[in-house]
Amino acid sequence: MPFLHDITAEIGGDHHPFDIPAVRSLTNGLTLDKKITFFVGENGSGKSTILEAIADKWGFSKESGNRSKSHTTREYDTRLAPFLRIRRLERPLDGFFLRAESFYNFATAMEDLESEEYCGNGYANYGGKSLHNQSHGEAFLSLFLNRFDGHGLFLLDEPEAALSPARQMAFLVRLHQLIGDHSQFIIATHSPIILAYPGATIYQFDEEGITNTTYKETQHYDLTRRFLQDPDHMMHQLLKEDDEEH
Ligand SMILES: Nc1ncnc2c1ncn2[C@@H]1O[C@H](COP(=O)(O)OP(=O)(O)O)[C@@H](O)[C@H]1O
Ligand SMILES: [Mg+2]
Repeated sequence: MPFLHDITAEIGGDHHPFDIPAVRSLTNGLTLDKKITFFVGENGSGKSTILEAIADKWGFSKESGNRSKSHTTREYDTRLAPFLRIRRLERPLDGFFLRAESFYNFATAMEDLESEEYCGNGYANYGGKSLHNQSHGEAFLSLFLNRFDGHGLFLLDEPEAALSPARQMAFLVRLHQLIGDHSQFIIATHSPIILAYPGATIYQFDEEGITNTTYKETQHYDLTRRFLQDPDHMMHQLLKEDDEEH
């Protein structure tokens, strides 16, 4: 049973963020009733804006983190949140909003918190090693492998940012366990590996707004597939186009 069922937004003006087609389309409502929903679309199409507004409305820390802990180090635009209506079915036991780009600040905050709470045993949740002594990708993955339990709502913004392809696959295995353990995920991603998780709702964000799509219909899948099928040819085409422009 998912926690979040759907969201709807009123349009609060012509200005940002209401000028983003994806945000405007929220007047029609967006169903989020699967255990996993992906947001895909070009940079600037509004994925983070909507994810952050859900996190803000839900009461997650603004920086990155869970509901009860506040460690904001960067202001972000929250003007959408007051216009958002969330319909939820159940209250999760755990929850998390994580944006990969601000993970470093988050690691610092969690370390402070853990050392206070667990009196020196603070790294137990992260494979027994300070998050700062792990690479960005290692730290993110160890958080994901060790810190999260089931019955949670997780909002993740580009989790692939720090992960090698092999670690993205490890991420998928843990994701599957957490979903089996009654968790719900909403993930903004560009990763053709992460997007492959079966049975997900995939929402395409573009100038038309938000539309439902399938894995193989996404540009991420198609472009990556064509690239890997013949990298030499693709490179030749790309560089030829560039040479012609200059
Ligand atoms: N404070 C702001 N004022 C005006 N435009 C903004 C502001 N913050 C973000 N934007 C614009 O909103 C659009 C959506 O951004 P974002 O949600 O981050 O996109 P995505 O996550 O899909 O890459 C972008 O065009 C971005 O430049
Ligand atoms: Mg984004």
